[in-house]
Amino acid sequence: MAFPATRLRRLRVSEEMRRLVRETHLDVSDLIYPVFVTEGKGVVIPVEAMPGVQRFSVDTLLGEIETVVAAGITGVIIFGVPAAKDTLAAGAWAEDGVVQKAVRQIKDRFAGLLVATDVCLCGYTDHGHCGVVENGRIINDASVEILARTAVSHARAGADIVAPSDMMDGRVGAIRSALDRAGYQDVAVMAYSAKYASAFYGPFREAADSKPQFGDRRSYQMDPHNAAEALTEVSLDLDEGADIVMVKPALAYLDVIYRVKERFGRPVAAYNVSGEYSLVKAAAARGWVDERAVVLEMLTSIRRAGADIILTYFAKDAAGWLSQE
Ligand code: PBG
Repeated sequence: MAFPATRLRRLRVSEEMRRLVRETHLDVSDLIYPVFVTEGKGVVIPVEAMPGVQRFSVDTLLGEIETVVAAGITGVIIFGVPAAKDTLAAGAWAEDGVVQKAVRQIKDRFAGLLVATDVCLCGYTDHGHCGVVENGRIINDASVEILARTAVSHARAGADIVAPSDMMDGRVGAIRSALDRAGYQDVAVMAYSAKYASAFYGPFREAADSKPQFGDRRSYQMDPHNAAEALTEVSLDLDEGADIVMVKPALAYLDVIYRVKERFGRPVAAYNVSGEYSLVKAAAARGWVDERAVVLEMLTSIRRAGADIILTYFAKDAAGWLSQE
């Protein structure tokens, strides 16, 4: 029925009415907060390109986690920044690696907090690529083996979720069966399924010290021009046993999030990446945008597109703002 019988403004008259008919809800329990952990003691190093984000050693990270938990956040994802790197990423799966140590201590102190770990090699290799390099090329199957070993070591340390972000073919299946063989049937896999070769990762590479030393990541991460291919990536990862599939970045790829949720109806995560964070921070610092309003609108948009879970550096701020609403 058209105007004048239908007047959509009737349901916009008051905050109470608007809330009554609201379609999308943003809740703190949807958010995962990324943290960076490095070797040493008493370390807190600000990441210049990401105001408000720091690298912590395990001891100072525990203090940070306490704040995160107090804010009501129920999940974190851990990125390791090891002291030493080599060609085969030995630090990625070391029993006393920086992520493994952090996970053990966090789960020890905060048993109820969901701890996810980023499973990748780029922070641990001297060449900065996400896989094994031979003659300047990134070798798929050898990389998958190391990734599976890394995922199992994270599970052994107590991770609830392992999140492979390398984009090698077949890694989800290899990780799932390695976890199962080792007795970690209940550790979930959150696959970075549709991860694009994006310029929005720039600030993160300072945080994680994971910049490729030659070339770029376009031979493994997805071409930003493609969307149908993302559905194939997701479909394969689900077949291989992914519990949660991720689209990354989030804001420039809302169409992909939408299609993945529509097509598969499975739990979808979206990574609101470093570049998306830093752009807002820079504009807000100049007084050009209202940070709180812009951030809550962005996060809501990611949820509206179809994401169930959002990984975001804004999680702490958003948790505070949401609790005031
Ligand atoms: C590791 C990894 C990256 C990000 C998450 N895991 C960087 C990359 O692929 O170069 C980016 C996260 C961000 O930008 O916030 N492979």
